[in-house]
Amino acid sequence: MTEQSKTINFSQVKDKCAGMLEPEVYESIYHAMSHSDDGDIVEVGTARGAATIALAFGIAASARPERRVISFDRLDPQNYIEDANVVDRTTIDLSAIFIQQIRDNIAAFEMQDKVVLHFGAVENLHSTVDGPISGLLLDADGAIDRDFKLFYNMLRPGSPVIIDDFDDSAHLWRWSNNQIRVDLKHRLTHQLGRFFIDQGLLEQSHIVRNTFFGQKPHAVAQPVDFNAMDFIPVYRSILFSNVERSEVPIGPVYGTRAVAVQTLQTRTPGLYKALRRIMGRTPAPSAG
Ligand SMILES: C[S@@+](CC[C@H](N)C(=O)[O-])C[C@H]1O[C@@H](n2cnc3c(N)ncnc32)[C@H](O)[C@@H]1O
Repeated sequence: MTEQSKTINFSQVKDKCAGMLEPEVYESIYHAMSHSDDGDIVEVGTARGAATIALAFGIAASARPERRVISFDRLDPQNYIEDANVVDRTTIDLSAIFIQQIRDNIAAFEMQDKVVLHFGAVENLHSTVDGPISGLLLDADGAIDRDFKLFYNMLRPGSPVIIDDFDDSAHLWRWSNNQIRVDLKHRLTHQLGRFFIDQGLLEQSHIVRNTFFGQKPHAVAQPVDFNAMDFIPVYRSILFSNVERSEVPIGPVYGTRAVAVQTLQTRTPGLYKALRRIMGRTPAPSAG
């Protein structure tokens, strides 16, 4: 731990922003970006801003503190509403509340001048980045082939590339009372990441928890034609494949409703109140 990172409380960042990664991962993000060079940093998957804040702290500690984090999020409701029974995940629009929360979180760490937020799908908004960029953090929906296509050629050789969910696992989530969601995002991310490593487009330095830390190799100085690459075999490879039983965490299937409501109440009281208004009743904990 460096002197500077000792003064940043990454547990506080995680708690304040309901961060989905562990404090040690946020700290590693900070370190990686504090060594990045000239050019803004792109993040796909802001959520409530925890990693965005770690990136911004990294920039602030770097030799080029005037740079910015450009972060994209399409505000998937399921990432913000933990309990499938509380609302219909697909129809409710709480985006204004989410956006205010994200801005408040970033301001709470005084990083608002270092962050540019874009709300919407990255595939529609990417042209707001005109590069060159000096770092990439991918933590969205597993389609990292899309994100590489959008940003890789803007990335300076040698720049850090961080990819979350880089593990060969499948997840099962309770989606509604009658449905279990099979989530292969991590498998897809892992397989596509291996594909890029095999192509010589990505070098691994280390993994923290299930987050990949690496860089664009210095040797890749010419633009890469991603349209000429065939990703279908990678997508196909996740259709029929075996996963270790221990690699299939059962997501919030039992007893999670009370936890979700409690999380909403304590971490995001504004959102909790809005849900109560929309539902016309208190989202009470059930026996689960
Ligand atoms: C796992 S969360 C990110 C967690 C965050 N990095 C943290 O530290 O807590 C993934 C986010 O990616 C967003 N997302 C998914 N697909 C996207 C896309 N195509 N464009 C922009 N954002 C996307 C979702 O709305 C969600 O908020």
